[in-house]
Amino acid sequence: MAENRTICTKNNIDYISIRMAMAKGARTVEDLVEMAGICAECEGCKAEIEGILSSVCGCKNVSLAEVVNAVKNGADTVDKVGEVTGAGTGEDCGKCKVLIQNIIELGR
Ligand code: FES
Ligand code: FES
Repeated sequence: MAENRTICTKNNIDYISIRMAMAKGARTVEDLVEMAGICAECEGCKAEIEGILSSVCGCKNVSLAEVVNAVKNGADTVDKVGEVTGAGTGEDCGKCKVLIQNIIELGR
């Protein structure tokens, strides 16, 4: 389970704020500038932010691409996405389920 930490030190934006913005539909660095308030001015955070954006479930190591693919192939509930990809099935966790629900709603 990833713990909270500051990602954008300039604007003091933490990991949880970024995940919350993703659960509301943020999928790109530009979205995160707008929705989470990261500065996106430094090269240093770029790789880490791209990594966060491309991952859905840290417990089961499931990527955004895998979840989007499962949704495109008919998984239309969080449970079905979990059956196909494992996302959201981490023991005593499930904190990525809000994001999975949002991916189902947006289809991306
Ligand atoms: S310090 Fe803001 S994105 Fe790196
Ligand atoms: S991040 Fe823990 S179940 Fe997905």
